[in-house]
Amino acid sequence: MAAISARLRDLLGRGRRVAALTGAGISAESGVPTFRSPGGFWDNESLLDLATPQGFARDPRRVWAWYDARRRQVSGCAPNAGHLALASFGRNHPDFRLITQNVDGLHAAAGSAGVILLHGDLFRVRCTEEGTSREDRRVPLPEIPPRCACGALLRPDVVWFGEVLPEGAMQEATGAARRSKVFLSIGTSALVYPAAALPELAKRHGAYLVEINVEETPLSPLADELILGPAAGVLPDLLGT
Ligand code: OAD
Repeated sequence: MAAISARLRDLLGRGRRVAALTGAGISAESGVPTFRSPGGFWDNESLLDLATPQGFARDPRRVWAWYDARRRQVSGCAPNAGHLALASFGRNHPDFRLITQNVDGLHAAAGSAGVILLHGDLFRVRCTEEGTSREDRRVPLPEIPPRCACGALLRPDVVWFGEVLPEGAMQEATGAARRSKVFLSIGTSALVYPAAALPELAKRHGAYLVEINVEETPLSPLADELILGPAAGVLPDLLGT
């Protein structure tokens, strides 16, 4: 079992305000591949082709074929003990704020309410003309690329490289980071900004910064505590569920 300090257990036990930022690593044990690990989604080419507005403009069918496959894969995955521990902690601590870079919906499926979605939602589509967004959970999609009732192309309602984060989400996340007394950075490579700035911000405002990951990251030197281990193993122990 991963080592957890008495100080951290004490801080959590005293009900100090907690915020958490999760990344792809928390869903790894649910069977969702991460982005940057071997066998993950991204190499340089796929990133530019599949996760930029330019890639979508060049070949919407290719981008949608990939997202359709990803939606299919994720819809067959269930939340793991890490997602469930965070959901249960949130129910017992109304101050707790959960911020995620993930688009897989597994925090909500685990029962977490009010999750701050920094990078959008894999199961929402957005009209490229009207800008309106709606839920669409159909897998597979009946038409690739899908179209809006107005005739325009739909796009996945996710944030691509070079795009601005959803209005309000980053503001909520920075507020939560600033107010937190304990900040947990869980299963993220801490490479993609602005999300990666949140742990640094929390620490600057006095939070005890904890990183939970299977390996060290660029954030590790800044962390007050690094807990090396899989999130699904560490979080139930840490959060007492
Ligand atoms: P990455 O794939 O960059 O990093 C996943 C992290 O999870 C790595 O640091 C792994 O060591 C760690 N990890 C793997 N398995 C784990 C486990 N079982 N328990 C704990 N940690 C584990 O994913 P993100 O940091 O989430 O953005 O990537 C950030 C963003 O880059 C994503 O939201 C996505 C991507 O491009 C968009 O699509 C906009």
